[in-house]
Amino acid sequence: MDSVKIGVCGLGTVGAGVVNLLQRNAGEIQRKTGRHLEVVQVGCRRDNADCDLAGIDVVRDIFAVVNNPAVDVVLELIGGTDTALALVQQALGNGKHVVTANKALIAQHGDALFALAASAGVSLKFEAGIAGGIPIVKAIREGLAGNTITRLAGIINGTSNFILTEMEAANRSFADVLVEAQALGYAEADPTFDVEGIDAAHKLTILSSIAFGVPLRFDAIYTEGISKITAEDMRFASEFGYRIKHLGITTKGKRGIELRVHPTLVEKSHLLAQVNGVMNAVLVDSDAAGQTLYYGAGAGAGPTASSVVADIIDIVRNQGSDGIPNLGFVPAAMQALPILGIHETQSCQYLRLSVLDRPGVLARISSILGQHNISIESLIQKDARKALAPIAIMTDEIPEQAIIAALAELEALDEVIGSVSRIRVESF
Ligand SMILES: NC(=O)c1ccc[n+]([C@@H]2O[C@H](COP(=O)([O-])OP(=O)(O)OC[C@H]3O[C@@H](n4cnc5c(N)ncnc54)[C@H](OP(=O)(O)O)[C@@H]3O)[C@@H](O)[C@H]2O)c1
Repeated sequence: MDSVKIGVCGLGTVGAGVVNLLQRNAGEIQRKTGRHLEVVQVGCRRDNADCDLAGIDVVRDIFAVVNNPAVDVVLELIGGTDTALALVQQALGNGKHVVTANKALIAQHGDALFALAASAGVSLKFEAGIAGGIPIVKAIREGLAGNTITRLAGIINGTSNFILTEMEAANRSFADVLVEAQALGYAEADPTFDVEGIDAAHKLTILSSIAFGVPLRFDAIYTEGISKITAEDMRFASEFGYRIKHLGITTKGKRGIELRVHPTLVEKSHLLAQVNGVMNAVLVDSDAAGQTLYYGAGAGAGPTASSVVADIIDIVRNQGSDGIPNLGFVPAAMQALPILGIHETQSCQYLRLSVLDRPGVLARISSILGQHNISIESLIQKDARKALAPIAIMTDEIPEQAIIAALAELEALDEVIGSVSRIRVESF
């Protein structure tokens, strides 16, 4: 029985995790596939003390791995979109299956890479790139394949979720919790990718494509991070019965596709609001299965390796191209539907204003909202007798354009100090 020969490019957290998992579960995987999955070559700039490379050919040039005639499956685990793009292109061009954990690469270059894989008759798989150990790509492409999906919403960045969870639990500021997240290794020294929503946007771009059969449109996604959320917003949200979560939301409607990442008020009683710390969860609304929710670890060596190895096993079981188009839809049936701008969406809104204690101020605020056809669903006023007091408002569902216009007028009032904080609300 021939072994399946695997070449690993990159030996960081995920690369070492995959080598370890393939070694530890070699017997179990062989029982499932009938094949031995053998790491024959590792390309890395330096060794990693977390894994044992005895008996494995180690090279310093990762391109030697993709050009190695003995390698059947290449694992791209270096990250980034420059060298990684060239590496994957070359591997596919050489007729090798590729498994990657690189969501940025797929979100930005996936369409061209999938076409290249199809013409070479090989697979390009990417489960590990989205929500780490949660098999969400498989769930959508296979488990829900008979459904029409209408909405997908996910907590798909563990760093942001950890920060929001700690802010709410201990009434702490964003900056304070960020420092702790960095010390714990949950956030990078430069946290921009995570806290400003770029990482989540990469993942949501891919999820939207596999849910709706639309091309990858990272260029069109709306992205808003969590750095402006305050502990005060958390407290008001809680009083209204909500938690603030950083969600990626994509929907398919008559007018097109919504594709947006932003802080969101979620009702406390909903399961998504119970997803805490670094955990991830993805909710899918579909016509036959109804609402399904997938929960698990979104990162880490073990969970990510679990998904990488599952992709290798899929390739092995199908002895070549796995027969399912990479995004789950027949390429000719992909639909380039319009991606709606955020200004074309509508939702309920949470608003928080700092207001000077002057007679008639509440009337002026509700008059401005009324002029834009915005109804107040509920309102909380704190410390009304203080010179400067916060007011929090929940509105009914309103077009984005209306709230933008109303916010400008509210901020222009003499009694409203600073900018108005606003967060969209999503119902499930
Ligand atoms: N960590 C997670 O939990 C997780 C979860 C899901 C997805 N991912 C994705 O998995 C990928 C890898 O992430 P990671 O966390 O494992 O990153 P990492 O720990 O930084 O590992 C990347 C490794 O690739 C090596 N590398 C980069 N460029 C190279 C080159 N040109 N030649 C040889 N080696 C090169 C790096 O070497 P040096 O150390 O010498 O720079 C490093 O060892 C990324 O796409 C990431 O987004 C990670």
